[in-house]
Amino acid sequence: MVTQCVCMGMTLAEVRALAEREGLDAEGAMQRTGCGGPGGGCGLCAPYIRAAIALGVDALPVASPATLEVMVRGALAKKNGPDAGAPGPSGG
Ligand code: FES
Repeated sequence: MVTQCVCMGMTLAEVRALAEREGLDAEGAMQRTGCGGPGGGCGLCAPYIRAAIALGVDALPVASPATLEVMVRGALAKKNGPDAGAPGPSGG
């Protein structure tokens, strides 16, 4: 299981708690913490951070970025409806 950003030494639980406390989305949390790459780290944890925040979990199985993206889309669709994130009739 993946539970932390190794480069910045923060757990997914800590990143999620910070995001919730400060009202940040995953991109904002990564900017704030440096996890996911903007702090000079390797960036490998970015898809895990997005998935952890979208799914509300603190540990994820090792998976490809594509698989994690599918998990994020599924969580957003469940939360916002099946068309969330899909282009509308006007294409945007
Ligand atoms: S593991 Fe998070 S930036 Fe490297």
